[in-house]
Amino acid sequence: MQTDFEQPHIRAATAADMDAVAAIEAKITGEAKPAYWRDTFQRFGRRDDRYFLLAEDSAKRVLGYIVGEVRAWEFGSPPCGWIFAIGVDPDLRVRKIGSRLFAAVSTRMRAAGVDTVRTMIARDDELIMAFFRSQGMMAGPFVQLEMPVDGGWDDGGAS
Ligand SMILES: CC(C)(COP(=O)(O)OP(=O)(O)OC[C@H]1O[C@@H](n2cnc3c(N)ncnc32)[C@H](O)[C@@H]1OP(=O)(O)O)[C@@H](O)C(=O)NCCC(=O)NCCS
Repeated sequence: MQTDFEQPHIRAATAADMDAVAAIEAKITGEAKPAYWRDTFQRFGRRDDRYFLLAEDSAKRVLGYIVGEVRAWEFGSPPCGWIFAIGVDPDLRVRKIGSRLFAAVSTRMRAAGVDTVRTMIARDDELIMAFFRSQGMMAGPFVQLEMPVDGGWDDGGAS
């Protein structure tokens, strides 16, 4: 484990952080989506059961982000935490920034009363799989199903 890096400070995101978050995601994916992040902040930045956290350094530079929420009785499951976005600046990886973000959101979810945290990842994304496995996550009891919504069936003329 590397310890010669400054420990990031974890805090709740504000609307003013969304350009920095979008910039990190653009470095990760090559796609800039500032409007998506502003919308995500509107939905997740200001509620007790939703978490939009940032890691920043002492110069207040945003290093990474994590977004999650507590969902109740989805798919018949008792309330549990869901993480649906995480990103660390590609130039600052493998310094435990992602682990700090994961721990911070897990602590908040536990305080909110849930005992399980879930996420969904692309089957072939080995990096994100290695990261979540390193945090202790394992395959859960649900299986994701999907199909084209235009299934070609007769809907009886419903509008
Ligand atoms: C996954 C991610 C958040 C990890 O952030 P990070 O700060 O580099 O992670 P950490 O330093 O906390 O790593 C924790 C553990 O994860 C695993 N891990 C992290 N990066 C890894 C890599 N490149 N290869 C293999 N394992 C890796 C290791 O087990 C590591 O522990 P170790 O350093 O003691 O071996 C970061 O790589 C990232 O942002 N990836 C892109 C995420 C993405 O695609 N997001 C969109 C979908 S949500």
